[in-house]
Amino acid sequence: MAKAKKKVAKSKQGVSKKTARPKPRPQGKKPPRPQAPAGAYVPPETFSRRAHVKSMAEYEKLHRESAKNPEKFWAGVAKELHWFEPWTKALEWKAPHAKWFVGGKTNLSYNCLDRHLSTHRRNKAAIVWEGEPGDVRTLTYQQLHSEVCRFANALKSLGVGKGDRVAVYMGMVPELAVTILACARIGAIHSVVFGGFSTNAIVDRVHDCQAKAIVTCDGAWRRGSVVPLKKTVDEAVEKCPTIENVVVCRRTGNDVAMHPGRDHWWHELVAGEKDTCPATPLDSEHSLFILYTSGSTGKPKGIHHTTGGYMTGTYLTSKLVFDLRDEDVYWCTADIGWVTGHSYIVYGPLANGATSMMYEGAPNHPAPDRFWEIIERHKVNVFYTAPTAIRAFIKWGEQHPNKHDLSSLRLLGTVGEPINPEAWRWYHAVIGHKRCPIVDTWWQTETGSIMISPLPGATPTKPGSATMPLPGIFPEVVDKATGKAVPDGEQGLLVVRKPWPSMLRGIWGDDKRFKDVYWSAVEGSYFTGDGAVKDADGYFWIIGRVDDVIIVSGHNLGTAEVESALVSHPSVAEAAVIGVPDEMTGHAIAAFVTLKDGKAPGDALKDELKAHVAHEIGPIAKPKQIRFTGALPKTRSGKIMRRLLRDIASGKQQIGDTTTLEDYSILAKLKESDEG
Ligand code: WT7
Repeated sequence: MAKAKKKVAKSKQGVSKKTARPKPRPQGKKPPRPQAPAGAYVPPETFSRRAHVKSMAEYEKLHRESAKNPEKFWAGVAKELHWFEPWTKALEWKAPHAKWFVGGKTNLSYNCLDRHLSTHRRNKAAIVWEGEPGDVRTLTYQQLHSEVCRFANALKSLGVGKGDRVAVYMGMVPELAVTILACARIGAIHSVVFGGFSTNAIVDRVHDCQAKAIVTCDGAWRRGSVVPLKKTVDEAVEKCPTIENVVVCRRTGNDVAMHPGRDHWWHELVAGEKDTCPATPLDSEHSLFILYTSGSTGKPKGIHHTTGGYMTGTYLTSKLVFDLRDEDVYWCTADIGWVTGHSYIVYGPLANGATSMMYEGAPNHPAPDRFWEIIERHKVNVFYTAPTAIRAFIKWGEQHPNKHDLSSLRLLGTVGEPINPEAWRWYHAVIGHKRCPIVDTWWQTETGSIMISPLPGATPTKPGSATMPLPGIFPEVVDKATGKAVPDGEQGLLVVRKPWPSMLRGIWGDDKRFKDVYWSAVEGSYFTGDGAVKDADGYFWIIGRVDDVIIVSGHNLGTAEVESALVSHPSVAEAAVIGVPDEMTGHAIAAFVTLKDGKAPGDALKDELKAHVAHEIGPIAKPKQIRFTGALPKTRSGKIMRRLLRDIASGKQQIGDTTTLEDYSILAKLKESDEG
């Protein structure tokens, strides 16, 4: 069962250099394919033939044309969607502020739902959802439309209207998708807070965006137990004076306290509501959502996205990168609490009229084959996950996927961090049976949609490289000092030279920070925060963050955020955290901690500090290692030298350049600091 049932050589993805015999090519009028780079995995002929973009020549033509006139290119894409009123100008660019489709009026909820109701898609599954306990719900486009309308009417009845912020703190239930589509329908701005975050994270975010309502669930299922979401919301709302109403969706059935006048059961609220609610025609630049992401300093940044451009970007990239077809079951395993879920569970796939699979729980509940069971049960065709998940699958063993029929799969994807080539090859062989192309998609919360990625029917892939920019996207690897492109093969900063529709419009309430973080490193270009190399074939290799952000299991955590959580503990004087390579999570957090006078280090305190960080931020931010030290290495200007800490944590004998270190004796002390 492990192997694909039939081994059809033609349908396999070949390695261009290593293929022993040249593959028989159908003799026809088609021009021969351009030579793929040596060692690259060429898309199977059978895949390319049916793909939206069928060859490198086609991709190159698209990219070339988009380069000649990006605005015309993007306007052509936007025209495939519904607009209540046309725009007068595709782009107004006053760097760093972009306005796309100026004057146009549209609605993303309309484009995800109503647009399909007059077509064959009306009775097609929009969402196929599987709960962790094994319950399954399918919502057709018509049914999803009705649910969204009812909830939109309910929100209105609570006084939520255009421009109001709605915080969302839910598990992965269909109502989460319904909530954000309902907000989009009436022009309310949603801000989803990942259900794994704790009270303080909700408080900070609600404060920052001044949310008026919060939508939650009684609880969420996670590995067979209930995560009490409503309880966390109750603690948070005590410190959130702007919240007028709390809507509670019943999922786990645990007891919750309902605060009269403030709290409302979802099912009671929607019971009396009509199943129609006209989508409000919204300005293309009307705010769609705010999603918080960690920064290298202080509080999280509220990444602000607007309607028309984000819609256009997620629509096109879903279509081209996932090569969506009407008959596909497409599954992105992310949580809607992250941008991946916003763009590639909800908005992008639904704007394309696709069937989007949604799973509630953990990948290893009740057993490590849960994902493969889901793929077999629902005959999933396109599967999009993260390298950290793939590394966990490898650790759990290939016997789990091998137990299941994965022959429905035709395309695989990854996102979140660079994928190591070994994991790529395992994914390709064990999950894709060497038959499915892999799209390694590079993008960010800030970019809104995928920027650098193979097109599965066109691009020969090199394991570990996100390959090339999508049409309409113009990244470059540049020198930090000059801002000019570095020679091929050399590392530099990854920037984007031209505006694109789904780019962030700013940091909510902090235009100065927006300019400082993204627009000051390289004059006139968007700075991604990532380092990269472009090779001689034009392939981009993303190295990772160059700032103080640590990516743990694909989640962005700011060093400052974790440090301030540590320092908020009564025993801690000062803390510095760094990312250390970790087999499972990509990076793990290591913390160097100095204690206040009279406080004694010890294992009990280590555990206490770990629990403290988990409580303050959430379990993903929990340091894996804590080291107590007498002092931290600092520059003369007082900046913590994380580079040195990294060397120490990784056990390097040779410590890097220490010429700016203020107190050399610290190094010796740090080396003595015990690990664990
Ligand atoms: C950062 C963005 C975009 C959704 C998930 C994370 C890293 C993301 C890749 C990839 C190498 C990647 C980058 C990026 N990253 N995808 N395919 N290859 N690195 O969103 O939390 O905003 O993080 O994730 O460092 O800047 P995010």
